[in-house]
Amino acid sequence: MNLALAYVDQNRDKFLADLREILTIPSISTDPERKADMQRAAEWISLQLRGLGMAKVQVMPTAGHPVVFGEWLGAGTSAPTVLIYGHYDVQPPDPLELWSSPPFEPEVRGDYLYARGAADMKGQVLACLKAVEAIVRTGALPVNIKWLIEGEEEIGSENLDLFIQEHKDLLACDFCLNADAGMLAAGEPSITTGLRGLAYYELRVHGPAKDLHSGMYGGIVHNPAQVLSELIAGMHDAKGKVMLPGFYDKVRRLSPGERRDFARLPVRDRMYREQAGVSALWGEPGFTPAERVGARPTLEVNGLLSGFTGVGSKTVLPAWAMAKISCRLVPDQTEAGTTRQLRAYLKQRAPRDIRWELVYLHGAGAALTSTGNPGVQAMRLAMKEVWGKEPHFLREGGSIGVVVQLQRHLKVDSILCGFALPDSDMHSPNEKQHLPTWFRGIETMVRFVHHLA
Ligand code: BES
Ligand code: MN
Repeated sequence: MNLALAYVDQNRDKFLADLREILTIPSISTDPERKADMQRAAEWISLQLRGLGMAKVQVMPTAGHPVVFGEWLGAGTSAPTVLIYGHYDVQPPDPLELWSSPPFEPEVRGDYLYARGAADMKGQVLACLKAVEAIVRTGALPVNIKWLIEGEEEIGSENLDLFIQEHKDLLACDFCLNADAGMLAAGEPSITTGLRGLAYYELRVHGPAKDLHSGMYGGIVHNPAQVLSELIAGMHDAKGKVMLPGFYDKVRRLSPGERRDFARLPVRDRMYREQAGVSALWGEPGFTPAERVGARPTLEVNGLLSGFTGVGSKTVLPAWAMAKISCRLVPDQTEAGTTRQLRAYLKQRAPRDIRWELVYLHGAGAALTSTGNPGVQAMRLAMKEVWGKEPHFLREGGSIGVVVQLQRHLKVDSILCGFALPDSDMHSPNEKQHLPTWFRGIETMVRFVHHLA
């Protein structure tokens, strides 16, 4: 292990250069124009895996973007097999004008590397790759590893579900290592034990056959922008509870022990306020912010579109209005159940003189993972050595589709971790990776493999 750690130390510049290289590829999974870049990013990862002496390295097609697979089973059948998960896709970078440096031209400023995907999650994929590189260049892997690097995480991992079902033997493992979660704060190593699920929708409201003169028709035609706003306004009460019928029926109650675990986390309202840039927090009464993010469901409007939004003014009564709406789910809510509740709400509340349409786009299950897993103990030890303190166990608010898919189809749990800080601006302009934490992450992964063996 010490040789591998020395290798990490000696190769910091090279590791960083490799990270910068993959970050120049605009692998935006939601953008059809980026299909070739998606392929290029997948090939880049596969080249890295081949360079590490992995067998069966393949860029495997799916109905969407390809999955990269590779494996090394040289540690034998008595050693554990870890499936290392990652995603090479990223979120769109817009609004572009808010970036201080172009999103796909990585730039180091101070302790940070700025680029789309630096934190979420090419940085974390590279941390895993570089840890394995350090081990194989200085000795042999003491455990078996398989790699599952997908290209559709940011759009709901829809095709990965079938891929896993169709490749159960290829993917068979003892557990999954998933570095797509994060850390509580700088210097606070963390293992994530729960993630929220997601159900994402587009809601369209159709009014008149075309945009109308608002003077000639205002007052006699129901305005779809107004109808949509009223529908949205009714989805919460004034305090922040979600008003869809039955929304909380399946929500698992927090036990006193779970509430104590939340209360122990060193998080403060101020920290959330500063990270978000708001003067006050808002949300469901009766729960702390950490509980609301980690263990309570929500409904969010992600975007709104209707009528005239250009420069200047135009007196128009729009023909239609559209909202992107998503719910974060917790155990034991389901995507299908949430869809039924949202439909029931719309049936109840939508005025008869307009037509509405609800399209389900994608989703992910809410996950809880067990901490009894031997991998969790190895990770705990590794983090303790690197950071000099025990990791926090926390439940986070984001979603990662593969976690429940692996539980369902392969009956394996995931060790959720990551070396991205909460202020890394994932999905926002100026996404960044804190480099000192990234190098500690590589060291953590080297030690994790060692302790696992
Ligand atoms: N890395 C995030 C998930 C995450 C964020 C986990 C913060 C823990 C803490 C992931 O890449 C992501 O953003 N996922 C999407 C998934 C969705 C599109 C199904 C999300 O949560 O919005
Ligand atoms: Mn991610």
